[in-house]
Amino acid sequence: MAGLRDFDDRVAVVTGASSGLGRGLARAIAARGAKVALVARRAERLEELAAEIRGAGGTALVVACDVGSPPEIERAAATVLDEYGRLDVLVNAAGYARHGLFKDQDPADAERMMRVNYFGVANWVRAALGPMRERGEGWIVNVSSFAGRLGQPDEATYAATKFAVTGLSESLAMELEPLGIHVLCVYPVLVRTEMFDEATLARMPERTKNSFIEVEEFCDTVLAALERGAYEVTVPRRFGLVYLIRLLFPGMMRRQTAAIRLPILPDLRS
Ligand SMILES: NC(=O)c1ccc[n+]([C@@H]2O[C@H](COP(=O)([O-])OP(=O)(O)OC[C@H]3O[C@@H](n4cnc5c(N)ncnc54)[C@H](OP(=O)(O)O)[C@@H]3O)[C@@H](O)[C@H]2O)c1
Repeated sequence: MAGLRDFDDRVAVVTGASSGLGRGLARAIAARGAKVALVARRAERLEELAAEIRGAGGTALVVACDVGSPPEIERAAATVLDEYGRLDVLVNAAGYARHGLFKDQDPADAERMMRVNYFGVANWVRAALGPMRERGEGWIVNVSSFAGRLGQPDEATYAATKFAVTGLSESLAMELEPLGIHVLCVYPVLVRTEMFDEATLARMPERTKNSFIEVEEFCDTVLAALERGAYEVTVPRRFGLVYLIRLLFPGMMRRQTAAIRLPILPDLRS
């Protein structure tokens, strides 16, 4: 399947466009010439970004939608098709993380996280399949996580939601290729966004905080991967090596991760 090099006249839906990685990708895709549909719950933030994109000569549509709600996704996809008549690129960046121990998590919170982080992605893919199949081409970018390949203490449910996105993406990459639809799965490690609020940062080891990269670098890496038709990309790319180490030396990886992360959790045994 060919990579995506030419965005002119393409229509891209970007979920999570009100903040962080989604906002960065929507900006970058619009700057390359695509018409973008900006999806998230906070419409006022989407309006600000849409105004910025239009001010720079681009085309943007605001579509408020809670991706945890299948009927809202159906309505949002219909709005995009009514307005633009096609859908070529789907970027699934909406999602959230909450650090905390599994024993202390409310099961309702866990279900909500799975609904947003996994079913939000799966249902948007479903909504995009019709218009993509009609044209015989399409590009889907699913934002998983480093925690979607390597389990992490204090992030059990989040990791589970992201492993689900990884499994969906790897499977669909094969299943949809014969239909002309390319699936790229993205594994961000640490990108500076609002996801890392005070409470989250307080539960992270000091040394990992030096690994943050900026949203612009993340977007450049993802769009380069899309351009060359990659099926997966870890950002920053050097962290890809960690999976190899995990595969070859799982015990060492488990001990090392536990040694770095567990000592800073005061509530581990309470
Ligand atoms: N930053 C990182 O280092 C990192 C690392 C690994 C994975 N990720 C993943 O990257 C994605 C984006 O995260 P971020 O870092 O950009 O965080 P962020 O700045 O907090 O942005 C999260 C985005 O998701 C949207 N969102 C959350 N719940 C939603 C819902 N129910 N319906 C619709 N939109 C929803 C938010 O919009 P509204 O609140 O306006 O709805 C916002 O636009 C997430 O899936 C996250 O798990 C990020």
